[in-house]
Amino acid sequence: MVKIKICLGSSCFARGNDRNVETIEKFLLARGLRDGVEVSLEGCLCLGKCANGPVVMVDDVCYTNVSGGVITDILNKLFPAAAEVKNEQ
Ligand code: FES
Repeated sequence: MVKIKICLGSSCFARGNDRNVETIEKFLLARGLRDGVEVSLEGCLCLGKCANGPVVMVDDVCYTNVSGGVITDILNKLFPAAAEVKNEQ
C-alpha cells in the first residue's frame, strides 16, 4: 500500500495543499484506488519544512514545493497504468 501523507499545517495548506488534497482525491476516485486498500491518504501537522512547502510525503520520501502539476506527476508515476488525470488548477 502506498502511503501518502499531506501536510495540512497552515503554511502548506495556504501554499497549495488544500488544492492538492482535492487533486489526490479526484485521482484516486478516477483510478478506482481505495483509501485503506491500495493507498493510504492522511493529513498531518507541520513537518517543519514550511519554507519549502507545500510538502507531501509518499512512503518515506518527502516532496517539497509540490505545486498542482507536481502532485499530478507524482501520482502518475506512482500509479502509471491508467490515463492521466487533468490538474484543474
Ligand atoms: S506547514 Fe507544512 S511543513 Fe510546515
